[in-house]
Amino acid sequence: LVAPSAIRFGSYSVHVGRGLLARTGELARGAVRAHRWALVTDEHVGPRYAARVSSSFGDARVEIFTVPAGEANKTRESWGRLTDELLAAGFGRDSALLALGGGMVGDLAGFAAATYLRGIPVVQLPTTLLAMIDASLGGKTGVNTSAGKNLVGAFHEPALVIADPDVLTTLEPRELRAGAAEAIKHGAIADAEYFAHVSEQLPAALADAGGPVMQPLIERSIQIKGDAVAADAREHGRRKSLNFGHTLGHAIETASAYSLLHGEAIAIGMVLEAQLAERLGIAERGTATRIRAAVERAELPAVLPRALDRDRIVALTHTDKKSRAGTVEYALPARIGAMAGTESGWAVAVQDDFVRLVLSER
Ligand SMILES: NC(=O)c1ccc[n+]([C@@H]2O[C@H](COP(=O)([O-])OP(=O)(O)OC[C@H]3O[C@@H](n4cnc5c(N)ncnc54)[C@H](O)[C@@H]3O)[C@@H](O)[C@H]2O)c1
Ligand SMILES: [Zn+2]
Repeated sequence: LVAPSAIRFGSYSVHVGRGLLARTGELARGAVRAHRWALVTDEHVGPRYAARVSSSFGDARVEIFTVPAGEANKTRESWGRLTDELLAAGFGRDSALLALGGGMVGDLAGFAAATYLRGIPVVQLPTTLLAMIDASLGGKTGVNTSAGKNLVGAFHEPALVIADPDVLTTLEPRELRAGAAEAIKHGAIADAEYFAHVSEQLPAALADAGGPVMQPLIERSIQIKGDAVAADAREHGRRKSLNFGHTLGHAIETASAYSLLHGEAIAIGMVLEAQLAERLGIAERGTATRIRAAVERAELPAVLPRALDRDRIVALTHTDKKSRAGTVEYALPARIGAMAGTESGWAVAVQDDFVRLVLSER
């Protein structure tokens, strides 16, 4: 058994270890002073794990609020219903939320916590790999609107994060692999040694998600995201490195009408953006090939599906928050483990025509 660890992430701790969900009560009470606890979860996660969390609080009251699962429910309507239910139940300023679930629950419950009575603490209890190494960290919360994803939200740092890899054993293998794309990203943007390790170890980690190979990967990924966010909480510089693969990835995710999972679209996006960086002469040659190999070892898609319209993808990159006329900002690698453009704000403006060229290459 790998020993649990506590990683300092700005003002809060991220605990990683098997079996830690059953110690949520003790850890949460050490980090948050609250008299009432509302556990927000979804209909897939709640039946499996809510009791494990609530019983860890002993006699303290934990009330469970279940939202419908799935990205389509990360809406203002769900936020409205949840906050209405909290108000009806009389939760006051001395309460705190526990967000038990994947990134969908984390973002929704986090946004509820950010806004409820102008803000109450939230403890993030991520149950997907993506949420453990990405979504639960860094304080971004929010909901989707018909105009796009995550367009209404707030920064609200959690008071504590607990990642218990045991729960990953019940996650759909496809969801697990999709989360692994972010671990490949963490290596690519910040740590060549970790990248090599991830490339080699991911198949074993994915085959035994609660096992001894996975936990150190989760820990190192958390550290890398932590370093980027600590240096730049509001994303004016270094935090942008975390967007590697995401400018094209988000566009591909949308163009696929969400038939590709976020991590799957990001996997393709990282390969394409690395190719873009090589063609621009920014990245060392071979960078894209190495990223593609890591992606394929994790059994993630590496190639843009033929059916997706290239022009539409380029147009969709402009709905990203970082576009100017005719160009879009990309976070691009200089080589595995190091980003380009670190002196000019951690992003590189690339002409649409150039992007189109790379997308049309075979
Ligand atoms: N705030 C941020 O910084 C940030 C970063 C990245 C992603 N996100 C957001 O995260 C969301 C995606 O998160 P996700 O990939 O975790 O998806 P998700 O929360 O929708 O979970 C995926 C599916 O797995 C189920 N599930 C979760 N944990 C499980 C478990 N342990 N066992 C069995 N089933 C389980 C869920 O019910 C759901 O059906 C998106 O909304 C995205 O915008 C936010
Ligand atoms: Zn992502």
